[in-house]
Amino acid sequence: MVPPVINTRLRASPRPLKGLQGGMTKPNQNASGQQKRGPQKRGPQKRGPNNRGNNRANNRGGQPPSGIKPRRAALRLLNHVLEEGKPLDDGLAYHLGELEGPDRGLARAIASTALRRLGQIEALITPHLKRPLKRKASRARHALIMGAAEMIFMDTPPHAAISIAVSLTKQDRDSAALSGLVNAVLRRISETGKAERAEQDAARLNTPNWLWDRWVKTYGADQARSIAAQHLAEAPLDITPKPDAPELDLAAEPLPLGTLRRKSGGAITGLPGFEAGDWWVQDWAAALPARLLNPAPGTRVLDLCAAPGGKTMQLAAMGASVTALDINDSRMERVEENLDRTALGAELITADALVFEADDPYDAILLDAPCSATGTIRRHPDLPHIKGAKEIKALTKLQAGLLDHALTMLKPGGTLIYCTCSLEPEEGEAQITAALARHDGQISRTPFTDDETKTLPDTAKTADGEIRLLPYYWREIGGMDGFFIARLTKQTD
Ligand SMILES: C[S@@+](CC[C@H](N)C(=O)[O-])C[C@H]1O[C@@H](n2cnc3c(N)ncnc32)[C@H](O)[C@@H]1O
Repeated sequence: MVPPVINTRLRASPRPLKGLQGGMTKPNQNASGQQKRGPQKRGPQKRGPNNRGNNRANNRGGQPPSGIKPRRAALRLLNHVLEEGKPLDDGLAYHLGELEGPDRGLARAIASTALRRLGQIEALITPHLKRPLKRKASRARHALIMGAAEMIFMDTPPHAAISIAVSLTKQDRDSAALSGLVNAVLRRISETGKAERAEQDAARLNTPNWLWDRWVKTYGADQARSIAAQHLAEAPLDITPKPDAPELDLAAEPLPLGTLRRKSGGAITGLPGFEAGDWWVQDWAAALPARLLNPAPGTRVLDLCAAPGGKTMQLAAMGASVTALDINDSRMERVEENLDRTALGAELITADALVFEADDPYDAILLDAPCSATGTIRRHPDLPHIKGAKEIKALTKLQAGLLDHALTMLKPGGTLIYCTCSLEPEEGEAQITAALARHDGQISRTPFTDDETKTLPDTAKTADGEIRLLPYYWREIGGMDGFFIARLTKQTD
């Protein structure tokens, strides 16, 4: 069967190569018709002038009140996540286009704080409402959430937070009549909210029941609480340097295995060495699977579900001959940009990993499977509000399919690393147990050795020799993403 071609777009004019390790000089297609991009290097892309429009609709008869634009954008972001159920990151790209740097940062910070603290904020608001607001009055609901987030968690002066929340409520037809209520409720919260906050069980309130119940069942009440508590703070910025990167002043602390950790984020693109491609952003836990695969130079590695390419860059930097595959074309463009910036090379294929057929089996495969990503809530505070147990069920089916198909592309004796950034055992430990049962006698679990795990947190290695990382590990220095990592070996006949 010829596998379906997911993306039929081919570049008309290939970009020039700049001295990268062997490979194609232009995009081509393999025998199966999947789109391939060869190892590439391209110069910085030129973009045309930013056509922002004149924002007339929002500015009738004069300047809008100061600070209103980022708050309007923040409300759009809250609507995007809470009403439309879409990821915050997508919303950032979509709704912040008209804003300048500091305003973008503020809109993002307000939306992230509101989502991270949503349970606490709702507990502050609800007692002041006689009944829940109607669904169509979502602007008023979000204005309350935003106003409370700013006053109680961001130290915005109450008069500013309240007056803008009220103005923005008035601008929405379905919510305008509720502007008085928004004003009154926010005034009450400005008086008592900080004292009430001090009494709240923040970890519990900000974790939806469906997640809390799962974590208590899997990890016990104490660990569930530690996990949830870690989600209250933003994640630090972790950096993976290229092996040959010059020494850079990144105001960062070294972590085991080469990661650098900055306490504060800041504008990533402005940091030393970013433009030069000396490093990329990657949580310490997310960098571990490729480090454990540790391919020798020249090893043929298939990086399945590769975008945006953090692990592809690691593997390429180790000297492996990498094929990076992902189903999502626009995310594959990010892989390409990342490889370009870091001057690393890989073969890029946009295809469905469930049906992709390799010309030759690979020495090693890294399968970073799509998952619920519940290990990354510190970075994605929207996740608990847009995902549910139903998605996890569908994802486990996909992960099993990806694992089974990946094994068909692995050489006998080859190694497969399976990982997910999920805290849910169905997407980790249980997935491997089930795969071992399905492929009885054809694959085996290869436990990570003590030597390989000696720099990891003490409890990271499971009884089966797999790795289970929890967000509160190393909490004294900022925690880490939750991850599961296992190693399988394909039997020789
Ligand atoms: C966890 S992310 C991968 C992160 C990446 N490995 C890295 O280190 O930067 C999961 C990826 O799986 C991709 N994906 C989902 N379903 C897929 C499929 N059927 N075939 C190939 N890729 C898929 C998504 O597009 C997404 O980019």
